[in-house]
Amino acid sequence: MIIAIDGPAGSGKTTIAKLLAKALNISYLDTGATYRALTVKALERGVDLSNQEAIAALAREVDIQLDGSKVYLDGKDVTAQIRKPEVDRAIPQIASNPLARGEMVKLQRRVTAGRDFVVEGRDITTVVFPQAPYKFYLDANPKERAKRRWKELEAKDVRIDLACVQEAMKKRDQADLTRTHSPLKKSEEAVYIDTTELSIEEVLCAIKGHIEQ
Ligand code: DC
Repeated sequence: MIIAIDGPAGSGKTTIAKLLAKALNISYLDTGATYRALTVKALERGVDLSNQEAIAALAREVDIQLDGSKVYLDGKDVTAQIRKPEVDRAIPQIASNPLARGEMVKLQRRVTAGRDFVVEGRDITTVVFPQAPYKFYLDANPKERAKRRWKELEAKDVRIDLACVQEAMKKRDQADLTRTHSPLKKSEEAVYIDTTELSIEEVLCAIKGHIEQ
């Protein structure tokens, strides 16, 4: 059984997906981490990010393992590295590459096959698991989402102006929403939850309520 959650950066997807999986005693998959790990590999190798074939070849060759919140790239723990601002900057080129997306979707389906999972990302309810019995779209206003990301960075001692975080997020939103292949969009059947004014507990409660219904 798959619980699919989509939404933009800072909408609370990852936090909620983890807590929901824990509450239901099932696994969770952050699909953004798969795109992030591939981006780290491409940057390390110095592959031209606009070369779609070369990035797809790298996607086929690379070993990405996800274990709860931990992410391993060819056996190396890259959990912290995948969240670096240079990865944020490079990722739209990887995420807009249909060949690389195909490989990541295969990986995401393979990892979750035959098991119960909460899966979160941008195209989970529309492309990866359109048949999932439970589908949610989390959102929040851009200012609140940027504030959440800023707090996350501050907790890691990365100090950047809130305005810069907001600007970078706006660019990534734009890339996610307007790319040709698997753009971020709400599937018709997904339950829309605006988390701007809600606590984590309230969002969890709302989702659990829908599932129990
Ligand atoms: O969820 P996140 O912010 O860690 O995702 C990082 C990027 O990966 C995001 O800007 C778009 C891309 N992504 C995607 O295209 N499809 C997914 N299913 C998940 C993430």
